[in-house]
Amino acid sequence: MEYQAKELFAKHDVPGAPGIVANTPAEARAAAEKLGVVVVKAQVQAGGRGKAGGVKLAKTPDEAEAHAEAILGMDIKGLTVKRVLIAPAATIEEEYYFSFLLDRANRQYLCIASIEGGVEIEEVAKTNPDAVKKIAIDPGTGVDEEKARAIVVEAGFPEALTDQAVETVLALWKVFVEEDATLVEVNPLARLAGDKLEALDGKVSLDENAEFRQPDHVAFEDKDATDPLEAKAKEKGLNYVKLDGAVGIIGNGAGLVMSTLDVVAYAGEAHGGVKPANFLDIGGGANAKVMADGLDVILGDEQVKSVFVNVFGGITACDEVANGIKGALEILGDAATKPLVVRLDGNNVEKGRAILDEMNHPLVTQVDTMDGAADKAAELAND
Ligand SMILES: Nc1ncnc2c1ncn2[C@@H]1O[C@H](COP(=O)(O)OP(=O)(O)OP(=O)(O)O)[C@@H](O)[C@H]1O
Ligand SMILES: [Mg+2]
Repeated sequence: MEYQAKELFAKHDVPGAPGIVANTPAEARAAAEKLGVVVVKAQVQAGGRGKAGGVKLAKTPDEAEAHAEAILGMDIKGLTVKRVLIAPAATIEEEYYFSFLLDRANRQYLCIASIEGGVEIEEVAKTNPDAVKKIAIDPGTGVDEEKARAIVVEAGFPEALTDQAVETVLALWKVFVEEDATLVEVNPLARLAGDKLEALDGKVSLDENAEFRQPDHVAFEDKDATDPLEAKAKEKGLNYVKLDGAVGIIGNGAGLVMSTLDVVAYAGEAHGGVKPANFLDIGGGANAKVMADGLDVILGDEQVKSVFVNVFGGITACDEVANGIKGALEILGDAATKPLVVRLDGNNVEKGRAILDEMNHPLVTQVDTMDGAADKAAELAND
């Protein structure tokens, strides 16, 4: 969110006032009493807040309170506004757009900059694409002062702002690299009265893969927006994504799980259109604990009617996986209530199947092929 992006901006000396976060109209009033003329800004993880009526100028504390009252609880692009940022109102002369982002397709970074920024930037990009400059950044060399200067010239910043713009570009690059971001965007980067350049808005996407070395970033997580099952899975270290269907999926290896989703979606067409309920990759070490954790998360999803466990034994052999399933059902006991279709193949498959046969659990059905198992799981979900 903007206020969080601005915290990171402040940390790396990007010019701009961080403002004060308010959770209630009374807090908004108190903030305005400190700051003077302010802008009340909806804090949601979406752009286009201004156009949606979520950014309002307030000349007095009374007005700030009234605007906060109207904006808090507002729905912007399906997100409920739970807090507002009270930012000192700036006198804007021009609005620019500036961003750094990860350009996956070209395996490099990209800077996008335009001196025609502001809330119409998407429109500018469509109708006047030449006004939006795209500058490639070599990941090996990054952005040093020389590159920053080249960016500023290419973007066409006015000469009076050149040195400030170079400083700002370098500071934003520090945010991008040191915070392990995949996007750092400022729109508007504004020219204020007196030729001052300031970031009046900010958006930062952080790379989750870097969490291990960015312990401070957990504080930025929007707990309200995270699905509770996904949060639970994350706590247990599982690679889980909630989907909308009725067939719970557990597999080992992201590729196998992806194909399992496809096969279940296809099989579901013959069974009332049932679909996969989730993505869950239990990875290599599918022991009883991991299997129990996975089943626990999936069975906690009310939409799930059946579960398809699709495992190809490799380094973790099928007998270990079968013992995992057995152990999981013992751990879960009465909490396991939905039918499980298990397809085992690969290393030690005979031993694995024998363990499940011997267990003879009323909820467990074994099917030898992936297609057959998907069909069975879809059928059970449609009962
Ligand atoms: N502190 C401020 N002082 C004066 N005007 C502001 C301030 N903050 C924002 N504005 C004005 O409101 C407009 C919209 O605000 P902002 O860019 O923060 O939100 P947004 O609409 O979500 O942005 P985007 O279009 O980038 O998604 C800005 O383009 C600017 O004209
Ligand atoms: Mg903006």
